[in-house]
Amino acid sequence: MLPSDHRPATLIPGGAVFPHRHLTGIAGLAPHEITFLIDEAEQWIDANRARAKSDKRLEGLTLINAFFENSTRTLLSFEIAGKRLGADVVNMGVNQSSVKKGETLIDTAVTLNAMRADVIVIRHGSSGAVQLIADKVDCPVLNAGDGSHEHPTQALLDALTIRRRRGSVAGQRVVICGDILHSRVARSNLLALTALAADVRMVAPSTLMPAGVERFGATAFTDFDAALDGADVVMMLRLQSERMNGAFIPSTREYHLRYGLTPERLARARPDALVMHPGPMNRGVEIVSSVADDPARSAITEQVETGIAVRMACLDVLTRRARGVDGWA
Ligand code: NCD
Repeated sequence: MLPSDHRPATLIPGGAVFPHRHLTGIAGLAPHEITFLIDEAEQWIDANRARAKSDKRLEGLTLINAFFENSTRTLLSFEIAGKRLGADVVNMGVNQSSVKKGETLIDTAVTLNAMRADVIVIRHGSSGAVQLIADKVDCPVLNAGDGSHEHPTQALLDALTIRRRRGSVAGQRVVICGDILHSRVARSNLLALTALAADVRMVAPSTLMPAGVERFGATAFTDFDAALDGADVVMMLRLQSERMNGAFIPSTREYHLRYGLTPERLARARPDALVMHPGPMNRGVEIVSSVADDPARSAITEQVETGIAVRMACLDVLTRRARGVDGWA
């Protein structure tokens, strides 16, 4: 039987149409829709490597990147993705916006809408803020991270990276370790990877583990060493100190001793296990440099490459309705 994450998009009733107007999260996407976006992204990896970088399918469209929270790779990769597809890209950073002057989110949404963007990418510090803006604007909205809620393009690029390096997502034992409670990356990955039939293990100190991860089909661990047994993929996450109110761990030194990924600890996983991290890394806390920089094991820079491809695919797919292509005419 074909694993659920390898259903070719052409076999899906309705062809290659992605029926959603926005991409606010992985929640609400069917497994074949997740696979469809990942399949679409594959072509852009090849195109980017071949330096065939000037596809013009988004020519004449305006992409606004509205980032109300700091970002390096996500903002840059959405900007590069939009430009490689020929869009006019406008970036609005946290320090330039009138949110600092007390503007409400609804007023910001109304303003963005009046500018008649064709697609808007939003990062915001509050969970649910992106959906709120999506409900108020006329164009597709992509969530580039909202509070501790969701970061769907990160989960898509992680799934694509795993599929390319391991051949499949289904059946892979993926250990996700770190600040699960505050991490939108953890939440979106939990939803995407379980939808694609991976064997997901979530690891955190009990203070940083949300209740109910088992409901999504994952297994919760407080013992990192035990969780690593038989792991195909080890995904490390940063402590989200900016989202913590008070102390959730005794000290970063103690945290590193129990939850830091070192070569000795990695030896408990499968010999060919893949190491991932969405960045930014806190070296010496959740991961040591000798693991993060080991080209044989680490897929961290590859995640950046698949990130551009996934964002190109999402921008393309979500603007198809407006462009009158692929069943939306
Ligand atoms: C993540 C984020 O912003 O949620 N980073 C990213 O998008 N590459 C993870 C993090 O900040 O720890």
